[in-house]
Amino acid sequence: MTSSTATLAELGPDDDRFADWCEVWAASERADRPGEVPRPAAEHVALGRQLVEPGGSRDGTHRAALVGDDVVGALRLILPVKDNPTVAVVDLAVHPAHRRRGLGRVLHAEALRLAAAHGRTTLITEVDEPRADVPGRRFAELLGWTRDLEETRRDLVLPVDEARLAALEADARAHSAGYEVVTWRDRTPEEFLDDRALLEQRMSTDAPHGDLPVEEERWDGARIREYEAAHVARGRTVLSAGAVRDGRMVAFTDLQVPLARPQRADQGGTLVLREHRGHRLGALVKAAVLRELAGAFPEVRRISTYNAESNTPMVAVNEALGFVPAGRLSSWSLRLG
Ligand SMILES: CC(C)(COP(=O)(O)OP(=O)(O)OC[C@H]1O[C@@H](n2cnc3c(N)ncnc32)[C@H](O)[C@@H]1OP(=O)(O)O)[C@@H](O)C(=O)NCCC(=O)NCCS
Repeated sequence: MTSSTATLAELGPDDDRFADWCEVWAASERADRPGEVPRPAAEHVALGRQLVEPGGSRDGTHRAALVGDDVVGALRLILPVKDNPTVAVVDLAVHPAHRRRGLGRVLHAEALRLAAAHGRTTLITEVDEPRADVPGRRFAELLGWTRDLEETRRDLVLPVDEARLAALEADARAHSAGYEVVTWRDRTPEEFLDDRALLEQRMSTDAPHGDLPVEEERWDGARIREYEAAHVARGRTVLSAGAVRDGRMVAFTDLQVPLARPQRADQGGTLVLREHRGHRLGALVKAAVLRELAGAFPEVRRISTYNAESNTPMVAVNEALGFVPAGRLSSWSLRLG
C-alpha cells in the first residue's frame, strides 16, 4: 500500500470517528513508551472542544488520514489567538502499523497547507524522545525542521524520600523568611488571579525556550480561568502552591493529576518572579505541593517533569528531590517561506 491510497478527512471532537483518531495517538504512545498508560481519549476530546469553540485563546482544526474507512493518521493544528499570530502548533502521528508508507508526509503537507491558509508562517512541533533515534526526529530533520530546544524528562518515583523532602523544606524555609506558602486546587484564589496571570505571562518567556520562535503570551484573569476550566474538562485535577509576600503571589507551581490514571502525575509550570529569586522559593512551593499530593492522592506513583538542561536552578531542585532522567522532549520549528 502506498500513500496514494490514503485520503484526508476533516473531523471534530464530537464526530463518530474521533475515537479512532484518538486511538492513533494511544497506539503511537504505546509503541514509543511501552509500559506507560497512554493519554486517555477524553483529553483529546476536551482539548478539541476547546479549540473548535469560538472565543477562546486558541483555535484549531483536526484531520484524519484514512485508508478505506480506517483512521490511520492524525493531525491537529493549534492556532494561538491572543498572541503569537504567526504561529501554528502541529501535532502529527501515524499509527505504528501504517508507518513508512508516506502517510506522515501526506499529513505534513496538509499541516503546511492549513497553516498557510490561516496566515501562519511559523510552525512548531514537539517530538517525544524516550530513546535516541526515534522516528519523529528523523522525520522532522528530513522535512527541514530546526531543533530549537531540547528538554530532559525526569521522573520522580513516589513516595518521596522523607529525609530528602524534609531537608529541602528546611533549607527553603531558612532562606525565605517573609514569604508565606498558600495552596489550592483547580481554581486560583480570586485575590491572586492577576498575580497568577503575570506569572503565566512571564512563564511563556522566562523558562528557557532555546531558539523557539515564540513571543511572550498575553495572560489575564479570564485566560487563567479558561486554562483552569480546560484542565478540569480534560479530566485532570491541578494541585498548586504559591509563595506570597506583602499580599502578592510571586511564585507558583502546579501538579496535574489525571483522574482516569492517577498513578502518573505531571509537573505543570513552576516560576519565581525574577525580582524574588534567590530565596529558594522554587523549592519551597514544590515541597508544599508534594505534601498536598501525598495527602490527597497517595495513589500517585510517579511524577514526570521536563526541563532544559540550561535551567540549572530548576534541575537542581528536581535532582535534590530525587527526579531521575527518563528521556527527552525536543521542540522544533519550520518557517514557511
Ligand atoms: C514521525 C511519523 C509521523 C512518521 O510517519 P510515517 O508515516 O512513517 O512517515 P513517512 O512514511 O511519510 O516517512 C517520511 C520519511 O521520514 C523518515 N522516517 C520516518 N520514520 C523513520 C524511521 N523510523 N527511521 C528513519 N527515518 C524515518 C524517512 O526518511 C521517511 O522516508 P522514507 O520512508 O522514504 O525513507 C511517525 O513515526 C509517528 O507518528 N511518530 C510518533 C509521533 C511523532 O513523532 N510525530 C512527529 C512530530 S509531531
